[in-house]
Amino acid sequence: MSFARAAATPSLGRLYTDARRPLSAYGRRISVRLCSSRMTSDNINWAAVDRIIRVDHAGEYGADRIYAGQMAVLGRTSVGPVIQKMWDQEKDHLKKFSELMVTFRVRPTVLMPLWNVLGFALGAGTALLGKKGAMACTVAVEESIAHHYNNQIRTLMEEDPDKYKELLQVIKKFRDEELEHHDIGLDHDAELAPAYAILKSVIQAGCKAAIFLSERY
Ligand SMILES: [Fe+2]
Ligand SMILES: [Fe+2]
Repeated sequence: MSFARAAATPSLGRLYTDARRPLSAYGRRISVRLCSSRMTSDNINWAAVDRIIRVDHAGEYGADRIYAGQMAVLGRTSVGPVIQKMWDQEKDHLKKFSELMVTFRVRPTVLMPLWNVLGFALGAGTALLGKKGAMACTVAVEESIAHHYNNQIRTLMEEDPDKYKELLQVIKKFRDEELEHHDIGLDHDAELAPAYAILKSVIQAGCKAAIFLSERY
């Protein structure tokens, strides 16, 4: 744990909506909401928290770009409102992980510009196959993300479910919403997309690679 992080985070825990505590970091004044819990700077597994928050932030950013790409192509069609609703939830997910990055002093992945371009291209590209193509992309991506979140939940539960209670709550909530997106995709005929099985396999291989890289870089 770095000195800066230790000094800046005397107590990291439940993120409250009241009692703001201003902190200074690198000349900036930021406000985070903290209260004491078992999760202190001394007993956090920083390597795990770093990895989890960085990759989840990257994933939610990628999801935001995918839905932006889908909306650029299909925004004015009958599935526009359905995609917009899922996109709005991805924006909320991204916002939450952006806040957690500040709170836990986690840097974003250096690959953000790549996920920006590839995410939008994936969303727009599959949307150009039609509504079913876009929904096939949604099913593939959301299944991968839900699986990834389940792995993280398992890791944090094995570490200490009480210590990581707040982070677990966030990840579980988002996992459930990704599964809802997955089911929405299936309800909108994702499986009838051209070359569905191949498309899904290719997209999920890409997700796996993106997760691997974002955790490390
Ligand atoms: Fe999400
Ligand atoms: Fe999602």
